Amino acid sequence: MTDQGKPSGAADGRSRPLRRNFIASMERAAARSGAELRWHSERWVAELRRNGRRRHVVGYNFPINDASSAFMASDKVATSVLLSDAGVPNVPHSLLRLRPDDSVADVVARLPLPAVVKPLSSSGGRDVHRAGTPVQLFDTLGALATRHPALTVCPWVPIRHEYRVITLKGRTELVFEKRSSDPSTGPGSTSWDDPAEWRHNLKLGASAVLLDEPELCAVLGGLARRAMCALGLNFGSVDILDVLGDLSVIEVNSGVCLERFSRQDDDCHAAAERVYAAAVAACFAPAEGED
Ligand SMILES: Nc1ncnc2c1ncn2[C@@H]1O[C@H](COP(=O)(O)OP(=O)(O)O)[C@@H](O)[C@H]1O
Ligand SMILES: [Mg+2]
Repeated sequence: MTDQGKPSGAADGRSRPLRRNFIASMERAAARSGAELRWHSERWVAELRRNGRRRHVVGYNFPINDASSAFMASDKVATSVLLSDAGVPNVPHSLLRLRPDDSVADVVARLPLPAVVKPLSSSGGRDVHRAGTPVQLFDTLGALATRHPALTVCPWVPIRHEYRVITLKGRTELVFEKRSSDPSTGPGSTSWDDPAEWRHNLKLGASAVLLDEPELCAVLGGLARRAMCALGLNFGSVDILDVLGDLSVIEVNSGVCLERFSRQDDDCHAAAERVYAAAVAACFAPAEGED
């Protein structure tokens, strides 16, 4: 997945930019690494120049990843297939494309329950729905199929913990837990009609808890590295679930958005700054074949 976001305003300098922490972090990181930074397109595109070399950061996408790897990560089914092929434990996502003459009831009858249905490529928990009964799945599919050309479906799993690991060139840069905003959504919460938030997106109210326990971080970092390697990514974030004590990857993002995370508190702010400083420095690391 690519954690996108929208081009933020403030072109006229009057309103506060939506990505204000990211923008400030990039400006500090550029200065620290001796790069000149110019913003374009309402500060959505950052142009970095150093010693005659020019690099662009678009949104939260750094020019460190291979374009096709990033594209694969943006497709939840392709990600799941590649992870499985490499033996990386993951939540299996299958493609769900409804043709105009498909009967939604027939499709529902073929799918196992409980299930989670979501757009093939999206982020921030947008249009991620769970269904515990055939009626819920029918309604969800009917509604989502009109909004998205392709969907994905995966088995619903009782999440005990959900983590995010950010890695850069095989190094773990940051590990945090995403705690759901609603404790009633803990393991085994299967009250399907409960309106409580069950998704662990910061955008939907979850909070970040920085992790520094060496053992846990080493295990999570190792799994994240394997996932990044399976997709051929150098820089990105890997979301990992603890389900009944087993770890599995649920999502990989090739764009690293830490805006909401960085606003949580000073420690998170400092951690995000470190990640972007390392990413900006990596933009100017010698590429293969360069001296
Ligand atoms: N199969 C699942 N079982 C339980 N929870 C899930 C499942 N799939 C997604 N979720 C929850 O929903 C959140 C959003 O799903 P995700 O696939 O990460 O989509 P997005 O790219 O929109 O963030 C996840 O962080 C997780 O908390
Ligand atoms: Mg997600």
